[in-house]
Amino acid sequence: MAISYTELCDKVQSRLPEKRMRHSLGVATVSAELADRFLLDSSVASYIAIYHDAYRYSCDESTPDYCRKHGIDVFPEEENEPMLLHGALAAVHFDEDAEDSLPDFYKLAVRHHTLGSDEMGVYGAICYIADYTEPGRKHLDDDDRQHIFSSPTLEEMIIRIMDMQRSYFERVGKKEAVVSIRLYEKLKSGFRF
Ligand SMILES: [Fe+2]
Ligand SMILES: [Fe+2]
Repeated sequence: MAISYTELCDKVQSRLPEKRMRHSLGVATVSAELADRFLLDSSVASYIAIYHDAYRYSCDESTPDYCRKHGIDVFPEEENEPMLLHGALAAVHFDEDAEDSLPDFYKLAVRHHTLGSDEMGVYGAICYIADYTEPGRKHLDDDDRQHIFSSPTLEEMIIRIMDMQRSYFERVGKKEAVVSIRLYEKLKSGFRF
């Protein structure tokens, strides 16, 4: 049996600075609320959420090869910026840290929380939304949060988040990852997780 949420929380805490831990707890709270709202399992959502950034400070130039060795496809944007692979690294270590073999959808959810993907599943969608909106995030105000949370579906919430991100990327001259563009386009044409 996998370790409990509280035990996982302690493990994550030993890997993260206080501020990142506070963020992770915020993501867990919002994830549980979203799961309740969409009639999903809130304990699964918070288990995934508390773990999503556990390897946020563990990436270096060796991480792309390490992930490939563990069967993970590395996107070109991740190759150029290995920090983006912290979700992939968490996916590699999730079973070992949880002390059990977890269902694949747990690992897909943490793997894709950084760039988003059409393979992240409903729990990945929840983690992605909660990661962007948790109360500690200062790039959003109440109106922005209201704009996102008033969407009737998880898919529409992600479209709204990606619209905000896209205008931010445009302002700072950053290019969106191919996997994110594919997700956005699929969502716009009616894709459901
Ligand atoms: Fe993250
Ligand atoms: Fe995060």
